[in-house]
Amino acid sequence: MRLEGKAAIVTGAASGIGQACARLFGEEGAKVLAVDLPDTGLSEAHADSANVSCLEKSVAEADAADSIVGTAVESFGRLDVLMNNAGVSTNALAEAMTEEQWDLTMDVNVKAQFLLCQKAIPHLRESGAGRIINVASVMAEMTDYGLSAYCASKAGVAGLTRTLALELGKFGITANYIEPGAIQTGMTRDSFQNPEIAAIWAKKAALRRLGQPIDIARGALFLASDDSAFVTGHGLTVDGGLTLRT
Ligand SMILES: NC(=O)c1ccc[n+]([C@@H]2O[C@H](COP(=O)([O-])OP(=O)(O)OC[C@H]3O[C@@H](n4cnc5c(N)ncnc54)[C@H](O)[C@@H]3O)[C@@H](O)[C@H]2O)c1
Repeated sequence: MRLEGKAAIVTGAASGIGQACARLFGEEGAKVLAVDLPDTGLSEAHADSANVSCLEKSVAEADAADSIVGTAVESFGRLDVLMNNAGVSTNALAEAMTEEQWDLTMDVNVKAQFLLCQKAIPHLRESGAGRIINVASVMAEMTDYGLSAYCASKAGVAGLTRTLALELGKFGITANYIEPGAIQTGMTRDSFQNPEIAAIWAKKAALRRLGQPIDIARGALFLASDDSAFVTGHGLTVDGGLTLRT
């Protein structure tokens, strides 16, 4: 029970990495507010999760930060862990990318993370051991065709989180980001349901397999718990060795 007595928010928690993180945090004793878009099966995803309550809300709505942080603090009386995981991936060559695609990617992947962190800071200060965990991607460091907005957004997450770590350390708050590799989730379902594509990505990793959401959740648990008390401003790569060689 590494999160006993803690209260956490996990966004993008109806599917994939966020679902696994909300569930694991709950199993480890935290009270968890799981957040996702309406009609994504959020409640069903957590029907048998311990200590998880659900809020259907887009993190990109104007009142999202107020609403999400307000609901958590009202429900739990405190906030110790903010995990900004909700994300979208836009795949379009730069020449063809629309401004709407660019804006959506930035709004969900970076701006919403910033606004949620900003709103959470006073409560994380009160916690005495506040934890910010922002989900970036190995694509913060590398690139692929069609990913200009996605890569820019994830590099933005890294820069945002390092700055938060610097500014908030004196309040006992740590801020770290995770860089997942190729993980089998809703975001990658279309690609990885093709066995040839799945095999190519599995082979690229030193551990010779695709990642599962629980692989990321275990890294997130470390960053949420007292085990990472002296770790801040760090990008934790959880990719099975995908990025060891070019
Ligand atoms: N799957 C991978 O290989 C991989 C690799 C690197 C990084 N990531 C990152 O991991 C995070 C989680 O993605 P995943 O792979 O679990 O995909 P996923 O599609 O399974 O989960 C993402 C969740 O975010 C939710 N979401 C999207 N927009 C939202 C919004 N505006 N408000 C609230 N919720 C919203 C979706 O509904 C979905 O449930 C993302 O930030 C993604 O960029 C994933």
